Amino acid sequence: MKEVIIGGVGKYTPSRKVTNEQLSNMVDTNDEWIRSRTGIQSRYVSSGEDTSNMAARASLDAIKDANISIQDIDLIVVATCTPDMFTPSTACLVQGIIGAENAVAFDIGAACSGFIYGLNVAKSLMITNNYKNAIVVGAENLSKSIDWKDRSTCVLFGDGAGAVVLSISDTKGIGHSFCKSDGTKWDAITIEGNDLDSPFVKDKIIRNSKLKMKGNEVFKFATSTIVKSINKILEDNNLNIEDIDYIIPHQANTRIIDYAAKKLKLPIDKFYINIHEYGNTSAASIPIAISEMHEKKLLKKGNKIILVGFGAGLTYGATLINWAI
Ligand code: COA
Repeated sequence: MKEVIIGGVGKYTPSRKVTNEQLSNMVDTNDEWIRSRTGIQSRYVSSGEDTSNMAARASLDAIKDANISIQDIDLIVVATCTPDMFTPSTACLVQGIIGAENAVAFDIGAACSGFIYGLNVAKSLMITNNYKNAIVVGAENLSKSIDWKDRSTCVLFGDGAGAVVLSISDTKGIGHSFCKSDGTKWDAITIEGNDLDSPFVKDKIIRNSKLKMKGNEVFKFATSTIVKSINKILEDNNLNIEDIDYIIPHQANTRIIDYAAKKLKLPIDKFYINIHEYGNTSAASIPIAISEMHEKKLLKKGNKIILVGFGAGLTYGATLINWAI
């Protein structure tokens, strides 16, 4: 039975860091409110880099870490809800920038759960199509989709990209995954597209391209699904929570992570948390966290890690990773 391992990781964040203090000069907010309600102290914000540039830089970082050639990449999957364009896909733009001419490239739209969905899809394609190496990227330029006058959302999000190289191996790697969605709650978080308007449309639909969120509804959904997803992964992989070395959750709010730790009766340091520095970077948050942990040498060969995400759609999911490098 073939295994798929994470063979390399990388990340990229814009150089501009924006503090809570700076935001308090733009909207009616303050550092104390943002820290105590979300755990966020700063976020990186693009000064012109778009999603594809950030994704390409994170990919090159991961390829270097995996010590493989760009020509060895068979598949590029980019998870994003803030693509540069409707078409072509951000993954095709990344392919062009890095010159991965042997790859097939496409995007996944599952918002903050996108990286988990992407890992799942890439692993399955690698096994069925005999691909040897893939890149899965989570990349977001949320600052272009934020209403900078809306204090209830503009303080929450940040820009950046994280990437992993997946490789076929004999070593145990990505375990059973779990992905789920609930499209009846589609309007809990939205970034809408083009207006529905043409000479043939009688009742136009005017759409809002800025991010809108029902914060309290999403909070309730997130707290219940984070616990449900972790338990499902333990069950499907025949593991107890004591077998897990780290949980790397989507970084949306430290209060969501605190809730999960209490519910699962786990010390908070089992969860990797870096939201204070990055804010919520949607699909990028989990691969940025993995890359940061790898840089800090926190991950040891043989470690068992659960990745868990939730977001617009509504979508959620989790994956077991046996750390192999
Ligand atoms: N600064 C100061 N006050 C703010 C504020 C800000 N940036 N944003 C909202 N407020 C105010 C509200 O207007 C409200 O004031 P009121 O009581 O006078 O009406 C008060 O703070 C409380 O607002 P509320 O929305 O109830 O706060 P909250 O504690 O629920 O926190 C979120 C709001 C968005 C941080 C929280 O609901 C959340 O994290 N939701 C999940 C978001 C998420 O995870 N999204 C991404 C999913 S991937």
